[in-house]
Amino acid sequence: MVKVLFTLFLLIEIGVSDPFRTHCIPCHKEQKVSLKKIFFDYLLYFSSERKVKASIKEFLLHPSPKKQIYKEKKLFKHSLPLEVIEPAIDIYWELYKVIGKIK
Ligand code: HEC
Repeated sequence: MVKVLFTLFLLIEIGVSDPFRTHCIPCHKEQKVSLKKIFFDYLLYFSSERKVKASIKEFLLHPSPKKQIYKEKKLFKHSLPLEVIEPAIDIYWELYKVIGKIK
């Protein structure tokens, strides 16, 4: 676990292939859709790491109104490749899980 975290932070530190920061954060900032809020809402809704990750992946790969947590929002079709989505979700999870523990 510590090793995984360390490797993640190292990757982020040297800016190598961090699909979460290069793909997810810029657009979410621009669209004012808080990734932090989404993270904790998904966590409340799905509770386990496995389910949170699987649901986000499913939503990103096959967007449909049924899979949206925020039903009131206009469906946004994330057209990102799986090679971006999978590592991005892992980084997303690690980043916010740590913040959640500190608070
Ligand atoms: C080009 C813009 C853009 C990019 C890139 C983007 N998003 Fe989004 N995302 C949005 C918008 C706009 C919404 C709000 C609409 C919605 O909730 O469906 C959203 C909503 C979401 C939701 C909530 C869906 C729901 O309603 O349940 C999740 C989860 C999400 N994004 C994850 C990600 C992740 C992870 C990445 C990176 C792999 C990413 N997004 C990249 C624009 C983007």
